[in-house]
Amino acid sequence: MIYITRRERFNAAHKLFREDWSDEQNLETFGKCSNPNWHGHNYELFVTVKGEVNPETGFVIDLKALKNIICTQVTNKLDHRNVNLDVDFMKGKMASTEVLAIEIFKQLKPHIEQHGAALHKILLRETENNYVEYYGE
Ligand code: NI
Repeated sequence: MIYITRRERFNAAHKLFREDWSDEQNLETFGKCSNPNWHGHNYELFVTVKGEVNPETGFVIDLKALKNIICTQVTNKLDHRNVNLDVDFMKGKMASTEVLAIEIFKQLKPHIEQHGAALHKILLRETENNYVEYYGE
């Protein structure tokens, strides 16, 4: 078993708030992340795929194919967009880094499996100091 990771980047706006909560409750829970007029992040997404090396190609997965999957299914939908408003797979969900990582995992998994590899991990970095890791469990 071997692991390979592809990095992609996207810039997106979001806010953390619940419509069913008061402004005070949102502010108390989410702080400045609940600012009504949005804020943005330069996200870094690391997609780790695992599998056996194909003896003919020497690859676990063709990195061009992996890049295409990530861009088509995820980063093209997020880049320069509003996570709360514009992204089909985030509709009705909290735009937190945790939820975004889980939903990205769900988007990518079946497409990676079509290439004979398995999705091992999503690492999503929101800021220099914060990132989440999700293994599909
Ligand atoms: Ni934020």
